[in-house]
Amino acid sequence: MANINLITAWVWIGLGFLSGLGLGLGFDREHWLGGYASWKRRLYRLGHISFFGLGMVNLLFYFTARTMPSGDSFAAIASIGFVAGAFTMPVCCLVMAHFPKAKMLFALPVLSLLIAGGFTVGALVRSNGWIEHAAVSRAHFTPQDSESNAATTALAANGL
Ligand code: HEM
Repeated sequence: MANINLITAWVWIGLGFLSGLGLGLGFDREHWLGGYASWKRRLYRLGHISFFGLGMVNLLFYFTARTMPSGDSFAAIASIGFVAGAFTMPVCCLVMAHFPKAKMLFALPVLSLLIAGGFTVGALVRSNGWIEHAAVSRAHFTPQDSESNAATTALAANGL
């Protein structure tokens, strides 16, 4: 399931190096792309950084998913979300660099990554039995239960 995240991770890190090479060809010129603080150059830089950042996130997810039962539906959704986020973030940076009004486009990577992160936590909670464990321990400790438990034990002790 998560092999796609491992492949995405290394392809994205490679694209990070390549985009860095591209930036490296012009960054020494002060007014390149309108200068260091220009909108276009900032979005190009953000795209460059996102390759590494989201490559790392996909790599982390790949190793995290190995701790989960295979075929877990939450993990499957997270896996797709991290790949979608990794793909759409640099594309949005490039589009935004040339069409600043296209800001809403960023909803794609942002929502994909938020959903993927949420389902990863959900899959971890579920695969570690933290939900069931919480339910069981709550059953143990809710007052009326312990009372009836105590009552039953007392009854049992008296052979009733
Ligand atoms: C082949 C390797 C790399 C090359 C050739 C490269 C090249 C560049 C260049 C030329 C810039 C400046 C862009 C500008 O002035 O607008 C830049 C900025 C940046 N790079 Fe890379 N980079 C590489 C790898 C990395 C890696 C591995 C990371 C982090 C994981 C990284 C993170 C950043 C960051 C955070 C900035 C923005 C710095 C700032 O705000 O000025 N880069 N990179």
